Amino acid sequence: MTADDLLARHRAVLPSWMPLYYAEPIELVSGEGRRVTDAQGRTYLDFFGGVLTNMIGYDIAEIREAVQRQLATGIVHTSTLYLIRQQVELAEKIARLSGIPDARVFFTNSGTEANEAALLMATNHRRSHQVLAVRNSYHGRSYATMGITGNRGWSASQLNPLQVAWLHSGERLRGLLARLPEADRIDAAVEDLREVLATQTSGDVACLLAEPIQGVGGFVHGPDGLFAAWKKVLDEHGILLISDEVQTGWGRTGEHFWGYQAHGITPDLLTFAKGIGNGFALAGVVGRAEVMEAVPAISFSTFGGNPISTAAGNAVLDYLLDHDLQANAARTGAILVEGLRAAVGDLDCVAEVRGKGLMLGVEFVRPGTTEPDAALATRVFEGCRAGGLLVGKGGLHGNVLRMGPPLTLTDQEAREGLAILVEAIRSGAAESVTR
Ligand SMILES: Cc1ncc(COP(=O)(O)O)c(C=O)c1O
Repeated sequence: MTADDLLARHRAVLPSWMPLYYAEPIELVSGEGRRVTDAQGRTYLDFFGGVLTNMIGYDIAEIREAVQRQLATGIVHTSTLYLIRQQVELAEKIARLSGIPDARVFFTNSGTEANEAALLMATNHRRSHQVLAVRNSYHGRSYATMGITGNRGWSASQLNPLQVAWLHSGERLRGLLARLPEADRIDAAVEDLREVLATQTSGDVACLLAEPIQGVGGFVHGPDGLFAAWKKVLDEHGILLISDEVQTGWGRTGEHFWGYQAHGITPDLLTFAKGIGNGFALAGVVGRAEVMEAVPAISFSTFGGNPISTAAGNAVLDYLLDHDLQANAARTGAILVEGLRAAVGDLDCVAEVRGKGLMLGVEFVRPGTTEPDAALATRVFEGCRAGGLLVGKGGLHGNVLRMGPPLTLTDQEAREGLAILVEAIRSGAAESVTR
């Protein structure tokens, strides 16, 4: 079987709106640590981890053995109609780590379902289907989560069970507030929130659902403290705050365990997914008991928190905490961000090298402007692959390179990946000049 055969078969049987990376797509057939090997035997250092999901890395013995122990019992699935020991254990750990007092946890299979469940709780608790969301957000692919996704390219239906009003994100580079000095952006975002509440809602809004750092949106975020400033206004109206931690959770930002902690507040609910299963389908909501309990009928997920995924989740979380991977993310992330800023930060096609911990973005623009240069981002992206490094792409305009390596990244791997990135950016930029 050649890669081309598989690509043709893929195209013949899978929908075209489910994109594949690279001009010549890759089939990854094995992995170890932070490296993966494709079907042609080529090995890559992985700085994207299956979209920030292989959080610990590939073939980690502790996780593999935990799953194998569960498989050996003969039970892969029981349904949540029966007690699941590792589900209860994982819920206890997540409730404790969430920072939310007297928390409850509900497990799902995906971030979409986690956000959908959080919306179910918030809208029932508040008896309202009015929701605030943030421009340039991504929250999933169900009707409600597409309805609060502020990115045209990722919102595939106009059908929406919610009534949504949109806030400015307060990001530094784009949007109306970007023109303001740093110190004024929080005040302007709060003014925007007050105006939106007064002009676009009929009061009694259920919640604001927001990402501390916008993932699909290109790793942009408002100033630290923005959620606290927003929350002050939300509290005046009893509006709940939901933090979508699908990308920012588990210490990835280095400075904190959750993205919301950069803002000095605690949300009512937070949603998690991706990294906690290290590839096994595991996600959920954790939040204040009073809000979590506001579901007026049976609500049940056949696979959510099943014995296999929660066995993996416990092993992932134990590994993460035992090895203090948050500190590792801070240290290795600093190598990358400082190295990138020093090597390419001055190029006039690089608008920004940004990020926290191991959640890093490089935004490409036409020299001397903020006009997005998606073609250059694609050249750099392909250049990284040619150099042996997998990275991601994103941003509202497709002009941002995204890096979210496993949190187990070593210093040496960070330097190795940095060298490939710098080379790919420099040669991509040089090609722009000669075009
Ligand atoms: C911030 C955020 N929320 C929700 C989701 C949806 O998660 P899933 O693809 O697991 O449904 C994603 C996926 O990329 C995400 O980045």
